[in-house]
Amino acid sequence: MTDDFHRTLHHVAGADLRPDTAQTPGMRRVEAISGRTVGARALWMGRTQVAAGSASADHHHGASETAIYVVSGNPEFVFLADDGTERRHRPHPGDYVFVPPYVPHREENPDPDHEAVVVIARSTQEAIVVNLPSLRAPGPVTVAVYEGPRTELRPLFELADDSPAALDAYLDLGRVLVARSGDEIVGHLQVVPTDRADVAELKNMAVLESHQGRGVGRALVSGLIDLLGGEAVTTLVVATAAADVGNLRFYQRQGFRMRAIERDAFTPATGYPPDTVIDGLELRDRVWLDLPLAGTGPAR
Ligand SMILES: CC(C)(COP(=O)(O)OP(=O)(O)OC[C@H]1O[C@@H](n2cnc3c(N)ncnc32)[C@H](O)[C@@H]1OP(=O)(O)O)[C@@H](O)C(=O)NCCC(=O)NCCS
Repeated sequence: MTDDFHRTLHHVAGADLRPDTAQTPGMRRVEAISGRTVGARALWMGRTQVAAGSASADHHHGASETAIYVVSGNPEFVFLADDGTERRHRPHPGDYVFVPPYVPHREENPDPDHEAVVVIARSTQEAIVVNLPSLRAPGPVTVAVYEGPRTELRPLFELADDSPAALDAYLDLGRVLVARSGDEIVGHLQVVPTDRADVAELKNMAVLESHQGRGVGRALVSGLIDLLGGEAVTTLVVATAAADVGNLRFYQRQGFRMRAIERDAFTPATGYPPDTVIDGLELRDRVWLDLPLAGTGPAR
């Protein structure tokens, strides 16, 4: 097995960068260093060209920090000051710009004759690009019961369950809460009854990758606790993969405690692809957690 001291270095030629990466209208990104090109774990790098006399759409890069090095041209970086007025940085070749996570901005190149070329480094190896209708930050996320067709939420359900067969069996069950940012559904949670009237199961939940890490999942669980507050349910249970350490942390931060382990729950026999590995751990065992609804409440 190759240890950390004997992995290969990667040379990515400037002419070989990949154009099939997340794009924003008005600019052209090509990917050099990423998980899929060189196996990078925490870094993404690429080059962006902003055509002469053009401007990108407004966008942000989710939880990703972005550092920009100006190679050539005179790009301008536009964002909103605290008072809501537009501000712009006008770096020269050789200068750097830092874009914090989630800050709406756009790149412009008012120069009518020369394109601007910049090199970009991001703190996530995926290139997260969330295009926006304006530079204004999206409003607060709201949580409400969802009454629409479940099939429209299937891509979100699929973020949380790798088994299409399992999903087919429960997609239409129970009730669903959704989190909306403006008109966009950015997360969901499904709660289903169990064979005990006092126990409900949080069956499936997910938040769009572009909106993770900002409290949307917490708001959904909190909305569910409110919803169940006036009902006969006194215990909420949830199951997740033992391999998904991040999910185990998330649920425990919402007040859930571990209750039982079901070995070999995620296998080809139950519809899960063989050899699925999550962060180095084989997808195999299921952990059940529960949360008493009367009394302690979620961790804050
Ligand atoms: C799990 C998931 C729903 C969490 O939603 P989220 O909006 O990112 O979570 P929040 O921002 O509300 O996080 C709440 C807390 O959980 C923690 N947390 C969330 N995801 C985490 C992760 N992957 N690893 C470690 N901690 C995590 C946050 O750091 C935060 O902790 P804090 O209270 O100490 O600040 C989301 O990551 C997701 O959709 N994942 C993919 C689908 C999935 O796996 N669903 C669950 C199937 S069982």
